Amino acid sequence: MEKLLIVDDDSDIRKQLKWGLGKEYDVLFACDGGEALSLFKKHNPKVITLDLGLPPDEDGMEEGFRCLKEILRHVPAAKVIVITGNDGRSNALRAVQLGAYDYYQKPIDMNELKVIINRAFYLLDIEEENNRLQTALEHNGTGFGGIIGHCPQMLQVFSTIRKVASSDIAVFVTGESGTGKELVARALHTMSLRNEGPFIPINCGAIPENLLESELFGAEKGAFTGAHARVQGKAEYAHKGTLFLDEIGELPGNLQVKLLRFLQEKVLQRVGGREDIAVDARIISATNIDISKAIQEGIFREDLYYRIAVININLPPLRERGDDIVLLANLFLKRSTEEFNKKVKGFSTGTINLLESHRWPGNVRELENRVQRAVIMSDSLLLEPDDLGFTDMPLQQQIPVADVVTLKDARDRVEREMIIYALERQEGNIAKAAEALGVSRPTFYDLMKKYNLNKLSALQAKQAQL
Ligand SMILES: Nc1ncnc2c1ncn2[C@@H]1O[C@H](COP(=O)(O)OP(=O)(O)OP(=O)(O)O)[C@@H](O)[C@H]1O
Ligand SMILES: [Mg+2]
Repeated sequence: MEKLLIVDDDSDIRKQLKWGLGKEYDVLFACDGGEALSLFKKHNPKVITLDLGLPPDEDGMEEGFRCLKEILRHVPAAKVIVITGNDGRSNALRAVQLGAYDYYQKPIDMNELKVIINRAFYLLDIEEENNRLQTALEHNGTGFGGIIGHCPQMLQVFSTIRKVASSDIAVFVTGESGTGKELVARALHTMSLRNEGPFIPINCGAIPENLLESELFGAEKGAFTGAHARVQGKAEYAHKGTLFLDEIGELPGNLQVKLLRFLQEKVLQRVGGREDIAVDARIISATNIDISKAIQEGIFREDLYYRIAVININLPPLRERGDDIVLLANLFLKRSTEEFNKKVKGFSTGTINLLESHRWPGNVRELENRVQRAVIMSDSLLLEPDDLGFTDMPLQQQIPVADVVTLKDARDRVEREMIIYALERQEGNIAKAAEALGVSRPTFYDLMKKYNLNKLSALQAKQAQL
């Protein structure tokens, strides 16, 4: 229950208010200014009703005003509702000028006063929510919780984060490797009501299966060889905070069952323990595998999926984010030049073309690494295509084999990659790229058309003009 402080020297009125408000609020009573201030400092109520005519000055209002000023000096956001006698209008206005939230004239009509009090609490909620979002944003510098993006897909992501951050809804973040899933999980935590609690990540894919259960749920002393002392698991540490289950698609079947039980009952048992330990944690999970396929194949439990994925936030691959690529590249460039004290100022046109046409299998992380490396290595003002270091990467790394189904698919995939690769190496010069692949220029053009690589040719044309 919310705390409400009532300051009035009239015991009948205190009784009336206790009777009228005691069910909805945790009501504290004070009969004079001194008691009011000490209760205020001790219990920190956010809404206060304050009778202005307080002893020792029941007829003047000075004690009431003093009390009002003192409360607001401590907590400017406190909502003080000033109660005056029926001739107290000018005092009421003076109180509002001093920062009182509202005023109410006696005699008291319980229903009316309740409306004013409820509205004060409602406004407080909104103000607190605003402050939280504001500090969350400031805390993380530019962009949305540190996540940079202007393309429509990312704006959609931000809007979803904003909608679900403050509830305890389980969020499932999906996207290719390096698309920012962990960043989103942290933003959700920072913008939540739990942001003073811990954010505890656990990577279900990186921990050997036999250790994962005790990592997650803890273990009693002697639970297994090597368990010399009782250990708390990550889930227990996340109490009052957020538990981030990264790569949840890798969770072995037996632990899926245990996690499901934990999510349903909000209690866990340490390995080798019998005691039920209650844990209140918000669950955010992430994966870069195709979870619906894993469910179809019986590798991932469908019932668990519905528990962890009440809301799904899917992060688009970097190559589909349009101008965000260059935006992010510039951000990483700025960060790196500051960090390494380099004089690099930007990207050459050829490099920008390359940034826009690369398929970025490692997404934002790859971009960040490449730009950082380029800044460290370069001694010139503009980064050139070679600085991005694509050429020394084996071609196979750029082709995800997992989602290739047929041999024809694979061939097409390789063919497409080869064309992009050749164009990259030749900095967009089609004649040279065709020659490098041992095909005629018309054939090369046909292939570009087949693989919908118009953008590249357009960029090439632009480059030729410059
Ligand atoms: N939109 C973005 N704006 C700024 N930085 C970003 C953005 N997206 C990702 N990053 C940065 O890219 C790197 C990778 O992000 P993150 O670790 O969140 O990706 P991930 O999806 O969890 O990757 P993985 O699947 O490999 O675990 C981090 O350094 C992160 O700060
Ligand atoms: Mg991650």
